[in-house]
Amino acid sequence: MLSTQSRPVIEATLPIIAERISSITPKFYQRMFAARPELLDGMFSRSNQKNGTQQQALAGSIAVFATYLVNNPETTPETMLARIAHKHTSLGVVEEQYGIVYEHLFAAIAEDLGDALTPEIADAWTEVYWLMAQALIKIEKGLYAQQANATIYSNWKLVERTETGVDSVSFSFEPADDTAATVAKPGQFVSMRMPMTDGIRQVRQFTLSNDVQSTTRRTVTVKLDVDGEFTPVLHNSLKVGDVVELSNPYGDLVIDTEGSPLVIATAGIGCTPSAAALQTLAAAGSTREITVLHADQEFASWPLREQMLESLGQLPNAKISTWFERGELPEGLDAKAGYMDLTEALTADSQVYLCGPLPFMHAVRSQALAAGVPAERIHYEVFGPDVWLAA
Ligand code: HEM
Repeated sequence: MLSTQSRPVIEATLPIIAERISSITPKFYQRMFAARPELLDGMFSRSNQKNGTQQQALAGSIAVFATYLVNNPETTPETMLARIAHKHTSLGVVEEQYGIVYEHLFAAIAEDLGDALTPEIADAWTEVYWLMAQALIKIEKGLYAQQANATIYSNWKLVERTETGVDSVSFSFEPADDTAATVAKPGQFVSMRMPMTDGIRQVRQFTLSNDVQSTTRRTVTVKLDVDGEFTPVLHNSLKVGDVVELSNPYGDLVIDTEGSPLVIATAGIGCTPSAAALQTLAAAGSTREITVLHADQEFASWPLREQMLESLGQLPNAKISTWFERGELPEGLDAKAGYMDLTEALTADSQVYLCGPLPFMHAVRSQALAAGVPAERIHYEVFGPDVWLAA
């Protein structure tokens, strides 16, 4: 809870911090990586540093947290904290590291604000930082405690690669050591850590697309990003028999096997959580009412379509509609040309799940809101740092 002394100080300085934060965070990362270069080997993503999305996400989250505390001093923004905590635990962030981030973040704030940073302002923002840090540490400890093992990464051997759609591959792994594996939930992801061509390790999170509840097999489906750093190594170098490091499964956007009607709207490779959910619900004999909506460039580019259609065939109360930007429309499937229209799929009590590129999610989220679905029933998964946290 934010103290009564700090509250007016935060309120008064929020606009200036919000305005300066985009110049504070690059200074923070420069300082932190100069002092702790090891954080760039297997922890922070070099690509996200380069494109600025991680800086934007962190900056946004602190400003959102402070604004939230000012308006709701008794509570914390659970959804945002959960998203960050699940990402952190998949990377192995631990309590001791919060002191490192604090030291370099506040040195960067002091450098940026100069004399404008009075001791009173520094104290108030220190309080906000530690309130947020303590909330995250608590959630993160709880998440670590739920795992079947006490390690961050264990070794998994690639046993199968299957091309699917265009430029996407499903990679299936089996344990390569005797670490006990946690049972995942549909919608969750794992972190994968691999050395890049210069030997520096990088990490990416991938949603499990199949074998969700297996403890002896993990499958992720990954689209190649030719301009990226990680996926070209994964697609072009990883052979059957090779070993990678995978984290335990994390992610708070979980799809339950029973409950109110479900609408899952996805585009492109964003269908991975949908495929995982359909596979798990079919295996559980779920009778949940499910409407699956998928948009893609063309029918052939839709990844995991065979798996999704097979699962749909086993679900008595599930149906699917698809939209394609070009190419011939498939027969025997509800398929339309053009962009997705979510409206017809909605019922008064639908839970809506979205996953795909940000412009797609903006568009379909707006459709759902305009149709009267309350914001708390619209869930979404962003691949990469969640720049919506700043919105
Ligand atoms: C990611 C906030 C402390 C390491 C993130 C994200 C946010 C965030 C918003 C992006 C989440 C997403 O949308 O994917 C914070 C805040 C902190 C904090 C507010 C302190 C109160 C830490 C600490 C570490 C850490 C102590 C460990 C040194 C990371 C890493 C990522 C991340 C490695 C993923 C970044 C990437 O791959 O680019 N954090 N964090 N964070 N955080 Fe933190």
